[in-house]
Amino acid sequence: MTSTILVTGGAGYIGSHTCVELLNAGYDVVVIDNLSNSSPEALKRVEAITNKNVSFIEGDVRNRKLLKKVFAEHSIAAAIHFAGLKAVGESCQMPLAYYDNNLNSTLALCQEMEAAGVKNLVFSSSATVYGDPETLPLTEDLPLSATNPYGRSKLIIEEMLRDLPEADTLNKAEKPWAVILLRYFNPVGAHESGTIGEDPKDTPNNLMPYITQVAVGRREKLSVFGSDYDTVDGTGVRDYIHVVDLAKGHVCAVNNLLGNLSGKSPITGVEAINLGTGNGISVLELVNAFSTINDVPVPHELVARRPGDVAACYANADKASELLDWSTELDVDAMVKDSWHWQKTNPKGYGQ
Ligand code: NAD
Ligand code: UFG
Repeated sequence: MTSTILVTGGAGYIGSHTCVELLNAGYDVVVIDNLSNSSPEALKRVEAITNKNVSFIEGDVRNRKLLKKVFAEHSIAAAIHFAGLKAVGESCQMPLAYYDNNLNSTLALCQEMEAAGVKNLVFSSSATVYGDPETLPLTEDLPLSATNPYGRSKLIIEEMLRDLPEADTLNKAEKPWAVILLRYFNPVGAHESGTIGEDPKDTPNNLMPYITQVAVGRREKLSVFGSDYDTVDGTGVRDYIHVVDLAKGHVCAVNNLLGNLSGKSPITGVEAINLGTGNGISVLELVNAFSTINDVPVPHELVARRPGDVAACYANADKASELLDWSTELDVDAMVKDSWHWQKTNPKGYGQ
């Protein structure tokens, strides 16, 4: 029998790519998204890529009545919770909006999941929970901290979710919670069809969409934030991961929770797992790879550091391999090629 996965925020960047991989893996998908940072066009294109239907409910995950209806109408096996606000800078200006959206959506979702007896959850966490790392590569057992309200919202949610299995033990719950906290490193790239990709509504905060918008002529030049870090060339080092690899990591997580991962026992309780490549590359290395592989110039200038940035951040991805049988398949060449393919064929994103 086909299992149905509830995907909150499924019209967004990572969510839309994950819907493709879930559908390709044979799951049915129900999406709830309030379209605050996405377009319904993304889901139409997901359907075109996969030749399958997505059940789309436009609405807010904080709306418990709506969630109740969704759980009553669909037999959900597991939920993936992408919905949330994600811009670090904006979170410093409007912390309450971030706590409201990120915390209350998770609370409402878990309350309605519990009421419906659905206790398999995959949560979108972030490498930001490692704060300013003292040792690299980052393993899941390192101390956690937050440097901004966005990161703090992820940290609080991780802690909140950790309380659920303890309550199951106390309550001798028949069906205990099984929660996978996926800590993403830096997602880039797009589906190879070039029909879905990252489409920031305002000026991009992140590096790759800024690069592609400069390359396509929407912006004059890229500012490279900081050239005096203690790194290979002085610019910041990150673990960029192709969004399709990241999406497949979610399918592996769901497979694990539903006992569909052969040779691996299903995770019980709460488990944090890094999704990264394990390789760090610098801003200038990424910019040069983009220009060379795509044969397109990316005018850029070196400017001051961006407040709050760390010098380097990359994953140890061994746990994902051990528990989820997952590792990345796509390299930096594929990341820059697919990012450019998406931007070139959709110069204005979904809004053209
Ligand atoms: P995105 O903004 O493209 O997708 C989030 C989606 O959630 C959007 O479609 C938005 O409309 C929707 N949404 C937001 N609040 C909602 C609500 N209350 N109810 C219903 N829908 C709502 O972002 P993304 O890059 O796809 O990120 C997905 C998740 O991954 C987020 O939780 C984000 O914090 C996390 N994450 C992202 C990155 C990254 O660099 N992109 C890194 C680490 C973690
Ligand atoms: N950068 C530039 N110019 C830009 C944008 C970024 O030089 O215009 C640099 C940054 O200084 C940093 C690197 O590119 O060295 C990556 O920056 P991003 O903003 O793309 O990504 P961050 O590592 O700062 O943060 C991202 C997400 C967070 C998430 C984190 C997980 O924005 O939400 O990855 O590692 F938590």
